[in-house]
Amino acid sequence: MCGIVGYMGYREAYPIIIEGLKRLEYRGYDSAGIALFDGTNLKVSKTKGKVADLEDRSEKEITKTGHVGIGHTRWATHGVPNDVNSHPHLSNSGDLVIIHNGIIENYESLKQELISRGYTFQSDTDTEVLINLIEDVKKKENVKLGKAVQIALNQVIGAYAIAVFDKTKPEEVVVARLGSPLAIGIGANENEFFIASDASPFLEYTKNAVYLEDEEMAVIRFKKGIKIRKIKDDSLVDTYVQELQLNLEEIEKGGYDHFMLKEIHEQPKAITDTYRGRLLRREAIIKMAGVEDNMKKFLNANRIIIVACGTSWHAGLVAEYIFEDLARIPVEVEYASEFRYRNPVINESDVVIAISQSGETADTLAAIKLAKSKGAFVFGVCNVVGSSIARASDAGAYTHAGPEIGVASTKAFTTQITVLTLIALRLARAKGAITSSDFRHHLLELEMIPQKVEEALKSDAHIKMVADIYKDVSNFLYLGRGYNFPVALEGALKLKEISYIHAEGYPAAEMKHGPIALIDENMPIVVIATKKGHYEKVVSNIQEIKSRKGKIIGIVTEGDTQVRDLADHVIEVPETLESLSPLLTTIPLQLLSYHIAVLLDKNVDQPRNLAKSVTVE
Ligand code: M6R
Repeated sequence: MCGIVGYMGYREAYPIIIEGLKRLEYRGYDSAGIALFDGTNLKVSKTKGKVADLEDRSEKEITKTGHVGIGHTRWATHGVPNDVNSHPHLSNSGDLVIIHNGIIENYESLKQELISRGYTFQSDTDTEVLINLIEDVKKKENVKLGKAVQIALNQVIGAYAIAVFDKTKPEEVVVARLGSPLAIGIGANENEFFIASDASPFLEYTKNAVYLEDEEMAVIRFKKGIKIRKIKDDSLVDTYVQELQLNLEEIEKGGYDHFMLKEIHEQPKAITDTYRGRLLRREAIIKMAGVEDNMKKFLNANRIIIVACGTSWHAGLVAEYIFEDLARIPVEVEYASEFRYRNPVINESDVVIAISQSGETADTLAAIKLAKSKGAFVFGVCNVVGSSIARASDAGAYTHAGPEIGVASTKAFTTQITVLTLIALRLARAKGAITSSDFRHHLLELEMIPQKVEEALKSDAHIKMVADIYKDVSNFLYLGRGYNFPVALEGALKLKEISYIHAEGYPAAEMKHGPIALIDENMPIVVIATKKGHYEKVVSNIQEIKSRKGKIIGIVTEGDTQVRDLADHVIEVPETLESLSPLLTTIPLQLLSYHIAVLLDKNVDQPRNLAKSVTVE
């Protein structure tokens, strides 16, 4: 839930670490800090606030020279966001310094033990406990830093990605991971090394990276290389260097004001990239290795259980409609956080699909582990290649959305739906649940979605005008039926998280069972009323709202006249199959929340209290 960056080499470490932290700010942004070793002294600067605040602070506090350093951008777990709780943290001697992403669950008992041996603590963090535990082990056992880290980590319960160094031996940095990601970039001739939560901080310096696996640690030595070991048993692990495929342009704003807007506009390409090579319309086939290789498991499954959180959970709800409707396979959709703790009935004949953009969400990862322990087959749908969830799954399919940096998920949602639609169609065909002509029709329509998303994006100016009218309200309702009920939930989530306006999504027909009481002339209600989705029923719901003076923003199919006559505003999307309509109806809802947030002067890409990947429970 935090971003970590480190550098050791021949360049100045400060600018690399600061720029790296900016790229990782999506992971947390309530405080930031840096520690630099300049050949003689260890200099630490840290502050509550963003990396820009850290830059201001370090300008006054430290000389920014040094070839070894570590930095951190934080999303607070233990201890409020303030200067003292910010990372890096020093050991009592002042020799050891650490950055940490994760949670040490047994920190309180470890802390008491250390206090009884004379250690003192400045902060409320679990991380300061860990660095003092490492120092304690190092002294007591008289071992090198790497060994001390290993012994200490065998005493902790929790999750971590850490980087530690000793100012008395600055040519060596020790890193370790369990449950939080950690990448090591390797410069030419091993004359420089980069450490980061993902590869984005070092893309312009090297394309060679090593991703640590869970329960692994590495000792990185200047000009000498990397040694990776298992934390538990000390066994050596082969160093597998990957060549990164990511480009710098993909992680920059590319002329847009915000990453979220860029990512909304990237959806036509992202969806195309997601179905490219899988949807072969002319041959009338869908090719997905992960599904093909495990076809029997899917076809013999009792049911499919989908586990996910947030927006990915909403994509799972859309998938429930698609799988049941097209493939006639029973589906249950679960919040991963509930599933993992409620002793679910699950066995070898269940297939679990885990959906996650980041592939690092702690609850989803834990749900996978539980499902696997009961013998279920787990299929991961992730965006981040090589992520923990992708690796923990038995098989899977990537979404190919490209990096999503805005905290509010947009292209991840539509590409997840694209992958899930492909899987459902493939299974429907294998089961004979769909006719050949219907299958071909779906392929054709799916292939046309990117072009139709382009069309939907053209309503941007009109949506901005609607946003301006409603930006000052306190509440919004979002209604949809069938395939578009999850889209209503997603629309409400988007508005809440970036504009801080309270919004609720409901199945349109449920409105009369409660939410209708909220409707008066001040309440805007976004109603998804596309032509093919229970249209007449939704029109009746709109009439019920109208007679209570609610303000209606209708998301309608191009050319609609009936809703246009009733609604205060309509936003058109092109016509498509009902099963594919979420890929289009979600576009205006993303833009509406984006414009409202911008008009309210909110921080769109880094909304308060949130972080991009939730690697804590
Ligand atoms: O990376 P994941 O897809 O597993 O993340 C799940 C949620 O944390 C995420 O979708 C969150 O709800 C987004 N902020 C929504 O925009």
